[in-house]
Amino acid sequence: MDTSIHITPSTERQVLETRSLPFGKIPTEHMFQAVYSEDHWHSARIVPFEDLTLSPLALCLHYGQTVFEGLKAFRQSDGRIQVFRLNRHAARFSKSLERMCMPQVSEQLFHEAIMSLVRLDSDWVPQDLDGSLYLRPFMIATEPRIGVKVSDEYLFMVVATPAYSYYNKPLRVKLETNFSRAAEGGTGYAKCGGNYGGAFLPTRRAAEEGFDQVIWTDAKSHYFIEESGTMNLMFYWNGRLRTPPLSSSILDGVTRDSLLHLAKDMGIPTETSPIAWHELESALAKGEKLEAFGAGTAAVVAPISTLSINGNDYTCYTGSDAVMFRLRDRLNEIRRGLAPDPYGWNHLL
Ligand code: COI
Repeated sequence: MDTSIHITPSTERQVLETRSLPFGKIPTEHMFQAVYSEDHWHSARIVPFEDLTLSPLALCLHYGQTVFEGLKAFRQSDGRIQVFRLNRHAARFSKSLERMCMPQVSEQLFHEAIMSLVRLDSDWVPQDLDGSLYLRPFMIATEPRIGVKVSDEYLFMVVATPAYSYYNKPLRVKLETNFSRAAEGGTGYAKCGGNYGGAFLPTRRAAEEGFDQVIWTDAKSHYFIEESGTMNLMFYWNGRLRTPPLSSSILDGVTRDSLLHLAKDMGIPTETSPIAWHELESALAKGEKLEAFGAGTAAVVAPISTLSINGNDYTCYTGSDAVMFRLRDRLNEIRRGLAPDPYGWNHLL
């Protein structure tokens, strides 16, 4: 396909201050879009950010045929801008599209769309060490048709928004053993909209009880830890960094993967094996020092201070010398160009 992108810059340019606003409220000045119809992608363009026009019959509005990604651009200490682990996000986007029966986007188009948007809106990449530009590629089924079918038409878009901390304090989380997020063979590993919409009710119930997030357990036995609302879960105790293995019901998190690599490099033993919530409960009940945290692109490393298991609140370790903060700092040093990038994760503009 033709991957040339037509660019129409906005006439008035103004970078807005977004630090004090909730995550994802303010888009940058441009957006990328490409259209799929008659079995091919075309009309790739970057235009000033604006609302979409969509038929009320569009299939995405009715049957949830939507997929998205989330990745970040960082300003390095030398001023250059890099997009973190672009290839890995492209690969995951591709897997999600396959699961949702949506057309593939070539890696070249995915790269060009993102790099061109970041280049044009580079003034929006924060200078601050705790800031980044969050990029949201997504695809929606646009064919106007109420009948239940796989769409023949799609829109692939990328929008961007400056990002600071997703969570501004250590989290209180509740183990969820009633509702399920994803079942074996379902869409849990895909980044499709429905996985998130389905989590809203349990998360709201947990919020009413004073919790920031839920910890999902497997849909069959509710015995094994899976992930949390917006991130994978990791634990450090007994000298090991542990996280559940990937499965059809767990998202293959890019931050999870990065932290596992960094832990190995830093000499921290890692283990990816099923974690039963009983193991956590018994360690916490015995007063063992246990770190629990979420790992995700938006959340980065989100410390968990309270883990509530069957009505009992346990305190997890969040001291400043915690292993999770060493991992977070190393990750940030690489992203800022302050430490070597041995895996070639930084995709420079
Ligand atoms: C991300 O971390 O990029 C996510 O997609 C999680 C959330 C913001 C939906």
